Amino acid sequence: MAPKFIMMVGIAGSGKSTKAAEIAVQEGAIVISSDTIRKELYGDEAIHGDNQVYQTMEDRTMIALRGGASVVYDATNVVAWRRKELLDKLPAGVEKGCVWVNTPIERALQNNEGRARHVAEWVIYRQATQLEAPTEGEGWDTIRIHTYK
Ligand SMILES: Nc1ncnc2c1ncn2[C@@H]1O[C@H](COP(=O)(O)OP(=O)(O)OP(=O)(O)O)[C@@H](O)[C@H]1O
Ligand SMILES: [Mg+2]
Repeated sequence: MAPKFIMMVGIAGSGKSTKAAEIAVQEGAIVISSDTIRKELYGDEAIHGDNQVYQTMEDRTMIALRGGASVVYDATNVVAWRRKELLDKLPAGVEKGCVWVNTPIERALQNNEGRARHVAEWVIYRQATQLEAPTEGEGWDTIRIHTYK
């Protein structure tokens, strides 16, 4: 079976990592997460050396997919051209699915308050402003909108 690449999209606190863990179990996929990599590289999930983080995510994604493993790619991924740029690099034959965790900002802010790691509120507002809804034109085989319950 062809490996799958599943990208999470959503603002901080929307519930991406929660949903990503569920999907990984269903699909027998590994999760590649920007927060885990920040922690590995800098010892802290809150430090954003973004280029190094995203390069590491990409490198690991390519290794996994080439080896036949499916990947759930867990970062905010709110900007369309960045999503497309990564999709265009994936090995041929990989099934490409997008899961947009479309949570209202009020709820995301509440979720963010309710957990140990707090992202600054202005960062969440900025992400909500930047967010571009995923479209087929980016190269997805499937786009799912996960409505927060
Ligand atoms: N469906 C849900 N119902 C109730 N609580 C939820 C749900 N989904 C997520 N949460 C809670 O909301 C908080 C944020 O969720 P999560 O960490 O999955 O968000 P995230 O999108 O991964 O955020 P970030 O981009 O900052 O990593 C967590 O405390 C989580 O337990
Ligand atoms: Mg997360």
